[in-house]
Amino acid sequence: MSLVNKINFPIIGDDRGSLISIEPGFNKNVPFEVKRIYYIFGTKSGVSRGFHAHKKLKQVAIAVSGSCQILLDDGIQQRIVDLDSPDFGLLIEGMTWREMHNFSEDCVLMVLASEAYDESDYIRNYQDFLSAL
Ligand code: TYD
Repeated sequence: MSLVNKINFPIIGDDRGSLISIEPGFNKNVPFEVKRIYYIFGTKSGVSRGFHAHKKLKQVAIAVSGSCQILLDDGIQQRIVDLDSPDFGLLIEGMTWREMHNFSEDCVLMVLASEAYDESDYIRNYQDFLSAL
């Protein structure tokens, strides 16, 4: 499984503007059942977030407005992905350490998640993450 997996969302455009439809499910554009949606916005200048991995959770992160960068780390390699358009999402699954940096003032980062919030699914210490691989 590659570390960076982007999902393109076709833009349904007309002379009024643009629309994107996300349909979770098998053979659809999000490959899991979405049980939770949250979004991060109003992130203060210079603030970074994340700094954790998940044991089981699958997520798709979409910058529906503005931009940010997501660092992905599988314990072997690190990649930085620019999220800067609402027409694609970043699929994050498996044991992946993630950090979110460089939020623009107008960034709205929407996350589709495969499970309800569960603090016990988080690994918030990088050494613990490496040990759990
Ligand atoms: P956290 O996932 O640590 O944020 P980030 O990874 O973006 O830095 O969550 C921040 C706080 O919000 C933490 O106290 C848990 C809470 N939270 C919920 O209650 N429900 C949720 O769905 C999420 C994502 C977080």
